[in-house]
Amino acid sequence: MQSLDDLLAEGVRGRRVLVRTDLNVPLDKQTGAITDDGRIRASLPTLEALRDAGARIAVAAHLGRPKGAPDPQYSLAPVAARLGELLGREVPLAADVAGEDAATRAAALGDGDVLLLENVRFEAAETAKDDATRGELADRLAALADVYVDDAFGAVHRKHASVYDVAQRLPHYAGRLVARELDVLTRLTTDPDRPYVVVLGGSKVSDKLAVIEALLPKVDRLLVGGGMCFTFLAAQGAEVGGSLLETDQVDTCRRLLAEAGDRIVLPVDVVCAADLTADAETTVVPADAIPADLKGLDVGPRTVEAFGRELGGARTVFWNGPMGVFELAPFQDGTRGVARAVAAVDGLSVVGGGDSAAAVRQLGLDEDAYGHISTGGGASLEYLEGRQLPGLAVLAD
Ligand code: 3PG
Repeated sequence: MQSLDDLLAEGVRGRRVLVRTDLNVPLDKQTGAITDDGRIRASLPTLEALRDAGARIAVAAHLGRPKGAPDPQYSLAPVAARLGELLGREVPLAADVAGEDAATRAAALGDGDVLLLENVRFEAAETAKDDATRGELADRLAALADVYVDDAFGAVHRKHASVYDVAQRLPHYAGRLVARELDVLTRLTTDPDRPYVVVLGGSKVSDKLAVIEALLPKVDRLLVGGGMCFTFLAAQGAEVGGSLLETDQVDTCRRLLAEAGDRIVLPVDVVCAADLTADAETTVVPADAIPADLKGLDVGPRTVEAFGRELGGARTVFWNGPMGVFELAPFQDGTRGVARAVAAVDGLSVVGGGDSAAAVRQLGLDEDAYGHISTGGGASLEYLEGRQLPGLAVLAD
């Protein structure tokens, strides 16, 4: 796999570089403002290096999941503004992805200029299943540049035109973020320092089964919180009241518990409420006896202590998924407690993307206390599952 340094060593002044980045940031539903710019900041090392070396940069990115046509609520306009602030120069936004406006603007770029193309998912071809449809868009994207840099780690698990097909059409390089993410994930999968503790949360156990199956043989402890813990608790015969429960996964959880022995650690207490509201009245109950009229919405304080003890002795930690509904104040202590314990790990601590990375920032925790905060939720999980990721496979060709 060729790196950004390989490209810089070739020299990029005056060359047209198409950079695929993951700028898929959360937006406030009411105001449309960016609520967490972590992914934009993570894209800076590659963009700054190319800019400083005099490349003419067109950035391709997606935002949300529009339905293959322009939709103003998914425009990258707020992202272009923020990227411009962070880069200290205006970043114009093309009116289309790889149409007339993008082509005209890309042709007019000067050395060190940065142009953002409109949301690549405004073209249905971006996510199309058949190669020919994606290929037509990839041809138009490739025509905007001489070389391609993929720095969109969060999207490398997608076989999309701007991630996969365009790399087949241009000399291709891995950006700094992709290189860094790969380095960290390799350390998690190849001979990690022990004890190796994984913390998984999030709402659905079905989303995490593949990674649980892949990680169980490798970890010393798997701590389970979040909505997904209730299916495990039910598999142990616990009363889970009105908590999230995937009844069709109970048998699988029972098998995993039997296989794992004491390596899977479940909550011992749970913060419950009748409703999921910001001013809900909460009560802490034992994890195996949740009253029928209550829902478990966070792990309890004894669980935070128990998880903290496991994390305290760990030398390698991977954490993915919040412990509760951390967006609402009554249910954020579990996630905050685990986030603090992960930050205090004496060794490699990795926060795996998406919600857990947002939780670290929203709860005001110090990002620098972690070894690495991944920008890829789905991508890092699929990597840990041992799957081949199309965006990485194509870079290695
Ligand atoms: C993410 O948010 O995990 C990435 O940006 C990929 O987005 P997607 O799941 O919509 O493909």
